[in-house]
Amino acid sequence: MKKTAVVWASQTGNTKEAAELIATEIGRPDVDLFEVSREELLRLTEYDMLIIGTSTWGAGELPHGWREAVSALDQLDLTGKTVAFFGLGDQLVYGDWYVDAMGILHDRFVSRGAKVVGAWPSDTYEFSSSKALRDGMFVGLALDADNQEHLTRERIRRWVCSIRPYLS
Ligand SMILES: Cc1cc2nc3c(=O)[nH]c(=O)nc-3n(C[C@H](O)[C@H](O)[C@H](O)COP(=O)(O)O)c2cc1C
Repeated sequence: MKKTAVVWASQTGNTKEAAELIATEIGRPDVDLFEVSREELLRLTEYDMLIIGTSTWGAGELPHGWREAVSALDQLDLTGKTVAFFGLGDQLVYGDWYVDAMGILHDRFVSRGAKVVGAWPSDTYEFSSSKALRDGMFVGLALDADNQEHLTRERIRRWVCSIRPYLS
């Protein structure tokens, strides 16, 4: 089993709730689940598989938690680590920046040598622009607790299924 952590930042609880649902769906008691901080980020090299969650705030910006911690990534060598991302956003009100923070974190982790898995199709969303798109796919699971909450559990179920091979 790959040593796995689910790491999140959340301002109103939506990303925290998604992180808990993802951990439950994975269904392994050895998976660690914690809120990001600079100190916790420096421990990421203890893990083989990282599942990284973020919401987006401002206009396409990182939320508190990631904003303060992200520069600590520059001290880490993530070569050989596998990373999957999930992002919360509001595609209707913030459709010009939908889940941008997931794209910002993606680029930071890739620059430290991590291999990314868990790309997700963008066709069941309505938005204008997103920094989290690569070749028409989201770099990870996009969720929208504001407008598509009813789809969250099924999206998580299907996405965890798609990354399960990388967890063992
Ligand atoms: C002031 C404000 C700014 C926001 N900016 C964005 C944004 O730029 N892009 C986006 O996709 N969602 C944006 N959102 C929506 C949040 O990301 C969304 O509500 C998310 O579920 C919050 O998750 P959290 O409670 O885990 O922080 C914004 C929401 C608020 C209230």
